[in-house]
Parts: sequence; structure tokens; C-alpha cells
Amino acid sequence: MKKYLVVGNWKMNPASLKEALFLAGEIDVRTKNTTVAICPPFLYIESIKNKIKNIKIGAQNCFWENKGAFTGEISPLMLKNLGVEFVIIGHSERRKNLKETDKIVEDKIKKTLQIGLIPILCVGGAKKQKAKNLTFKVLRKQLAPLIEIKKGFLIVAYEPIWAIGRGETEDPLEIKKVVSFIREFLKASGKIKENYVRIIYGGSIDSKNIKKVIESSKAEGVLVGGASLNSKEFVKIIKIIEDLK
Ligand code: PGA
Repeated sequence: MKKYLVVGNWKMNPASLKEALFLAGEIDVRTKNTTVAICPPFLYIESIKNKIKNIKIGAQNCFWENKGAFTGEISPLMLKNLGVEFVIIGHSERRKNLKETDKIVEDKIKKTLQIGLIPILCVGGAKKQKAKNLTFKVLRKQLAPLIEIKKGFLIVAYEPIWAIGRGETEDPLEIKKVVSFIREFLKASGKIKENYVRIIYGGSIDSKNIKKVIESSKAEGVLVGGASLNSKEFVKIIKIIEDLK
């Protein structure tokens, strides 16, 4: 993986394969310092994979078993066989809307690593928790699944819930504290080697705030939602990151 990582989370967008292919084509730029991945809805993955040449493909979720009687689910093995490299796991929208628990998140992380996919574990608390100084407590619980992991490459995305889709990013100095907390936590309690973990930030990233966020926070990349659906804006974000030292 290159120095920085920029991941686009398209969520439940766009409405047609035609639009998805167009968007992917516009984003498919060559980079030097930055690994770029897009995570479209499952339905579009194969077609997009066949179209893109420079960027990588990820999924927004997967199940915790590789096969069997699990109606409506998509397995890590299926994704791997399709050429998917990354999987977002434990996004706060899934924790909230689908009631995904820490145990479910843990099972998914283990299975994706076993199969050789790179999980992007989303962690982060609510504004109320931040106000009560509970951020690190929340993170400790959400990071617990990583403690037993011995090998594999993984990404941790710090995404404060209140900063997602609101146009309001976390203070870069606060992000810096959290990034070093996550690094220290994994170093102290985890078995996974430090250079196999990347810590990135997500929450209302756009071309206006990206430079400051990365420079001041020392995050190693970003998870971008809304702005990844606008190809010009997303490519701008990539270009700005590319130009950072
Ligand atoms: P946002 O979403 O960039 O629209 O805030 C980020 C995310 O949900 O990963």
C-alpha cells in the first residue's frame, strides 16, 4: 500500500449501473503516493472492477461466514473471488440501522482477515460521549476485536458519528490525539505488527478541509462519503493528498 489511502464509500448510491460506471470511470486516476479505492454497492462491483485500471475496489459490508444458508448475505469468499481488496466493517450507519453489535463486527473482521481481504474497521463515538470525555472508552471497546489478531493488513477508520454527512469535521488536533491513541492501544495490547495497520479519518471530508486534516492530524488517509459521489471533488481530494509531503 502507498503512503496515503483514500477510500470512497458510495453508500446506497447511485441509482443505476450506468451512473456507477460513469462515476468510476471519472475517478479512475493514476496516483504515485496514494492508494485509491472505491466501495460501491455490491451490485455494481463486478462491472466496475472490469472497467477501472488505476484504482482498487472495496465493499461496504460482508457476512461473517463464507457460505451456507444465510439468505440475502454476501460472503468474504465471494468478494475475494471477485477481486475485491477492501471491506468496510462496522460503519456507524450499520451499527445503528442494522443493529450490528461489537460481536458481529469482530466475527466479520476475523473472517475477512482469514480470507485475505483488508478490513476497514470504523470506530468512533457520539457527540454526547465526546462531551462526557468518553471517546477513548468507546474506542477501547470497539478496537477490542483487533487485540487477538496476529497477522494481516488492516485499516482503522476513526469516524466520529456526529461528523458523518454533516459538513462538520472533527478538530484535526482532536483527530491527532485519537490517531495516536489507536496506535498506542494496538501497540500495547495487540499482536498485529504496527506497520500492518493504517489509521485514517472519516467524517465530512472535502477538498477544502483535506489538507488541514491530514497535515495536522497525521492520519494516513481518509474515508470519504458524500464527496466521493462527485467525481471532480473526489479527484481534487486525491490530487491534494498526492501533493502533500
Ligand atoms: P461523509 O461520510 O464523508 O459523507 O461524512 C463518511 C462515511 O460515512 O464514511
